[in-house]
This record gives sequence, C-alpha cells and structure tokens, in this order.
Amino acid sequence: PIPLWLDCDPGHDDAFAILIAAHHPSLELLGISTIHGNASLVKTTANAGSVLEAIGKPDIPVYPGCNKPFCRPALHAPDIHGESGLDGTDLLPKASKAPITDENAIVAMRNALLAQPKGTPWLVATGTLTNVALLFATFPEVAEHIQGLSLMGGAIGGGFTDAPMSRLPGEKARIGNTTPWAEFNLYCDPESSESIFSNPVLAPKTTIIALDLTHQVLASQAIQTRILHGSIHSPDEPTILRQILHALLTFFAATYEKAFGLSTGPPLHDPLAVAVVLSTLNPAFANKHPDRALFFDDKGGERFALRIVTDGHHGKDVSETGQLGRSIATPVDGPGVAVPRGVDIEAFWDMILQCVQLADDC
Ligand code: BDR
Ligand code: CA
Repeated sequence: PIPLWLDCDPGHDDAFAILIAAHHPSLELLGISTIHGNASLVKTTANAGSVLEAIGKPDIPVYPGCNKPFCRPALHAPDIHGESGLDGTDLLPKASKAPITDENAIVAMRNALLAQPKGTPWLVATGTLTNVALLFATFPEVAEHIQGLSLMGGAIGGGFTDAPMSRLPGEKARIGNTTPWAEFNLYCDPESSESIFSNPVLAPKTTIIALDLTHQVLASQAIQTRILHGSIHSPDEPTILRQILHALLTFFAATYEKAFGLSTGPPLHDPLAVAVVLSTLNPAFANKHPDRALFFDDKGGERFALRIVTDGHHGKDVSETGQLGRSIATPVDGPGVAVPRGVDIEAFWDMILQCVQLADDC
C-alpha cells in the first residue's frame, strides 16, 4: 500500500477523506494531524477521533496541530459544518483514544513521513495549510523525501469556464465559495498557502483539487441512498456507520442548499484529495494501473505556477477582502503544480462505497 499522512479539519467531507485513507486497501494511513478550519482545533481534533472510532480505526494516532494561522485570526465555517464542525447526528461515538499531545504534530508528521522509503509517502491536506507550511519551513528535507503533496484547495476559474461554481444562478463571475474569488482552505491562511506553492521543491510534487473539480462530484440523493442502503449484507437494516454517514451527508446537503442554492447535492471535496493518490496524471502509469486511473486531465498533464493573493483582510464583503486567498494559476512549460480537471465520477463513488463496506465489515 501507499503510505500517507492526512492533515485535516473534520468537517463533513473530511470525514469521508478519513474513511478512504483508513480503509482503502491500496493505502496505509500513518497518522492524522488536525488543523483549525471548519471549527476550532479542539473541535476538529475531537471530530477526527470520533470518525476514527465510528469507522473502526481507533488506533490511528491523532495529533492536534496549529490552532490559528501565523498572521491572522482563525476562521470557522459553522454555516456549512454546524457549530461542532460535524453537526447532523447524535450517533457519532466519542473517541476511545485521546489525541497525542506529548509529541508535537509537526515533528510527528516529519518522523512518520521520513520513516518511509524515499519517494513513497504522500502528504494529503484537506484543511487550511498552516501545519503543512510549518512542516516544510521547519523540515525542508521532507519536501525532497515525499512522493507527493495532494491538497484540497483553490478555485481556478478562467480556463475552467464550465466549472459549476461559475454557473451558480446570478453569480456568473463567482469562482470561490468563501468570497467571489477565494476557496475556504486557502482563504483561511493565504500566507501559508503561498509558502507552499512558491516552494520550488514542493510545487512540482503538488496536486491541487480545486473547487472546479470538486463541484463535479455532488453527493446526490441517489448517492445518499446508496450510502444508507448499499450494504451487501443487510441493505434494509443500515449499520450505525451507514446511518452516521447518511446523516452527515443530509446535513451537508441542507447547508449547501441554504448557502449556495445548490439543490443537487453537496460537493464532496476532500476525499478527492485522497483519491488522487490512487491515481496519476501520467497516462503511462494509468495504463499500467488501470485501477488507479480515476483522474484525468484534458490538457494532458498541463502544469501551473500558482500564486495566492495575500493582500486584503478577512472581512464581510469584497470591499474588505479584495481578492485575498485567490489562487491565480498560470500554465508553465516546466515543473509546476498539477491541477486535475476531470474525474471518473462513477468510479469515485464506487470507491467510496467500497470503503464504507470495508469499514462496515471490520
Ligand atoms: C473546503 O472547505 C471546507 O469547509 C471543506 O472541508 C473543504 O476542505 C472546501 O472549500
Ligand atoms: Ca476540509
């Protein structure tokens, strides 16, 4: 299996990222670090432990990371994820194992990644990027050592003119989900984000899963029903885990409908950043590993230089925020960040369903 570390802020979609990172047979989840984001660090850490308990993987270690960006106050998203960061069900168990606090999360990430053979481990980030920035600033050797960094973040627009986000009713020019320009994870800590994309060692190893892609993967009613009733053993009697996952998606769908008027189901952003580890933008590799050929890039592996706008303040409207947190992607000939544009949506959901079944059976 491919070793990976997951940095996350659960989060409804983060919960599904944890599910596949922990259960996919081709992945080995080394550990989880948590980050401020959808809710406070205390809450996202408790949520990570709860999700691991619910999916039958309580022994995967959880390390609380940074509780705020370096230069700005922390922002949270109760309008999307509720006050707890993971609202929508009373069935979620409490973690049976306490998070690890006697080892610093950044040191734990470094140690776990460097303990793997060079060129094999992946770092996946599905929250804001303060921990990740601190990791590479403190231990630059980790950038040389890892196989890749996959992260959910950004809103490209522009070349992605058909992206569903650009087509929200009455919001023709909108590409972001937090401001008209910016996606939540990059907006929360733009300086950390910029430090990653401007790192010349890291950028060519980085894949970003932007809103332009995640808004193609909506957890429709039909998907929600498959989560609840898709058991190969007892479709009519969903397990507690299936009830939990279904309730989380129901809540997420309701907040997305309220906040964005999206009635076709919420985009399940974060597990795509884990799934990309199973895939590749290199067709030769995909041919050799058809089971991993989940993603495609209609420009044949085009690479981008990515800059993050750091001018502006977190604020209520665009007169204060300006383009803060905007991801500006310029195609480059040489090494750059990979931005997958397409995903085999059916194969993605089959993979999620497969992992739910594996969690049910464990
Ligand atoms: C990202 O923001 C968070 O609310 C989600 O968990 C996801 O990581 C989407 O913009
Ligand atoms: Ca997240």
